[in-house]
Amino acid sequence: MTPAQAKKEIEQLTKAINYHNELYYQQNRSEISDLEFDSLLAKLATLEETFPHLRQPDSPTQRVGGTITKTFNTVYHKYPMLSLGNTYSQEELEDFDARVAKGLDDEDYTYFCELKFDGVSISLIYENGVLVRGVTRGDGIRGDDVTANVKTIRSIPLMVKGKDIPPLFEVRGEVFMPKHVFNQLNKEREDIGEERYANARNTTSGTLKMQDSSEVARRKLNCFVYFLMMDNIKTKTHEECIHLLETWKFNVSRTYQQCKDLHAVLAYINHWESRRQELPLETDGVVIKVNRLAQQQQLGYTAKSPRWAIAYKYKAESTSTRLNNITYQVGRTGAVTPVAELEPVFLAGTTVKRASLHNANEIARLDLHIGDYVFVEKGGDIIPKVTGVDLNKRNAETASVVYVDKCPECGTKLVRAAGEAAFYCPNVNGCPPQIRGRIEHFIQRKAMDIDSLGEKTIEQLYSLGMVTSPADLYDLRKEDLLKLEGFKAKSADNLLKGIMKSKTIPFENVLFGIGIRYVGKTVAEKLTRYFKTIDNIASASKEELLAAPEVGEKIAESVFEFFRSPENRNEIERLKIAGLNFVSTATEPEKESDILANKSFVISGVFQHYERDQLQELIIKNGGRILSSVSGKLDYLLAGDNMGPSKREKAEKLKVKIISEQDFENLMKGHSH
Ligand code: IVH
Repeated sequence: MTPAQAKKEIEQLTKAINYHNELYYQQNRSEISDLEFDSLLAKLATLEETFPHLRQPDSPTQRVGGTITKTFNTVYHKYPMLSLGNTYSQEELEDFDARVAKGLDDEDYTYFCELKFDGVSISLIYENGVLVRGVTRGDGIRGDDVTANVKTIRSIPLMVKGKDIPPLFEVRGEVFMPKHVFNQLNKEREDIGEERYANARNTTSGTLKMQDSSEVARRKLNCFVYFLMMDNIKTKTHEECIHLLETWKFNVSRTYQQCKDLHAVLAYINHWESRRQELPLETDGVVIKVNRLAQQQQLGYTAKSPRWAIAYKYKAESTSTRLNNITYQVGRTGAVTPVAELEPVFLAGTTVKRASLHNANEIARLDLHIGDYVFVEKGGDIIPKVTGVDLNKRNAETASVVYVDKCPECGTKLVRAAGEAAFYCPNVNGCPPQIRGRIEHFIQRKAMDIDSLGEKTIEQLYSLGMVTSPADLYDLRKEDLLKLEGFKAKSADNLLKGIMKSKTIPFENVLFGIGIRYVGKTVAEKLTRYFKTIDNIASASKEELLAAPEVGEKIAESVFEFFRSPENRNEIERLKIAGLNFVSTATEPEKESDILANKSFVISGVFQHYERDQLQELIIKNGGRILSSVSGKLDYLLAGDNMGPSKREKAEKLKVKIISEQDFENLMKGHSH
């Protein structure tokens, strides 16, 4: 391909990707699948690698992350990030309006209303149209520099184009995790046996502070902006600022409205009270701003907040209803989740019949009795919460709920591991929902992708005794399938075809599909790349597992225990015989040099500038080898902070060289050590 052709193709791909991005992030729609989108992005990345001079600074490939930030720098805000005064009633709003009128000497004024987005506030600094910094609110005076992570948010322009772009401006807004992304993330966590995250706001905040920006990119954060600041601003009203932000392609929620007086403000508040539930994020109120910037200045600020703006907070929607019963659900990993069965009640647009109670501690904390009237609230989560008991309505004869001690599905005595909130059913191989759950997990899209197999069919296959583990799927014959309700020759063929096709699915999907607790898709990818074959993983010691990227104590323990079970080993043998992939085909990172040829390393501890897997990759790319434990044959122990003392002692005893991060960088530059 000639550079001219590449240029044209890069432009076309960029245009297409930006179009789909905008559709997805600003209009919540998509015309192509995630897979198609990723393939466009991969094509663009390859072209940019071949023709690096053609890469634009605002190329969509810059969004996928990759930077690791060990500690976030603290930076001062140019203008402090203030908070807003809160109001809860019409009277308080009338008082605010009277203060504004007085402050403006009864001059005419209008308001501009927006919803109050419940995310994490962010300040975005643009120099000559280029996004140079993203900073969290912090204490309002100084915040954390989270630029690398902010750049992965696709609706935040990396570059603003157009006429008269000011040399320096700041945009403020709210970063959030869309509800559907949050729910999906929680589903995935539950699926691998992790606890659910409590709410989208905290999860967003945690995500913005993650060290690995490619993980942030995967979390699909979004951002609504609501504020433009610069010196010598030319616009006259907040409304004009908002329109300017829209022309510059910032993501502004189209929920704003100019309101000519308090009456119109109250109508706005009413209008959005229930409709706001349909938005992709939590909102907890309305922000009312005086529209003219000159008038904002005239009104000024108190120490904490502007006098020209105020927040009106919606009351949390809550109702009370009777707790009819508590039932218990058993998941794939055996975790037991209690569910409140409620007398159906209408709340914030839907009828609520059930609410999650999380775990036994939560039931004890609330001191629930069957027959109690409980308060129910809807948060950002689609699942409503029980927040308390109406003690005035309690019947004195009822007793506190006693948590089940046996599995409601198979009768096995439940256990609780030290430090965990949930009870588990230990009957891994005999408890029906665990068995069915493992098959459902195995066939899902991110695993073996057998889409012709649904939950109902699994239920039938299980209850007829045809399938009690993933390996049984590969023994199914057409005549078996024809015995299933609703199955004809064509549907049976389809299912068999889907099962056959799954034999070509890569090892990382298979490893994820097997369903080892705490092994999510990312960890499965890292493990397969590192160990290459299932036999290497199965025979690895805990220490060897710990040497793999992303693997901490919890995962190492879980993987190790999984392969100690004869049932699990047998299942894997059967899957091998069926012809599934148990060898990684991921290519080795390309060789860069032979500087570390024949040198072996053990990496231990935490480093200033690198993640452990980055160091591993560097060593391998430059000809070195990674070992998992210190022995006489080892060349270098690369020691970071908090390295275990036993490793150091052993290395000292065996006279193995212990080197620091700095020493390692020197080695890489070719200086001998
Ligand atoms: S304007 C001078 N507009 O609410 C304050 N803030 O309590 C200017 N927030 O820290 C803020 N939605 O994080 C403004 N439409 C909106 C907002 C909004 C949410 C947050 C923001 C701020 C907090 C103030």
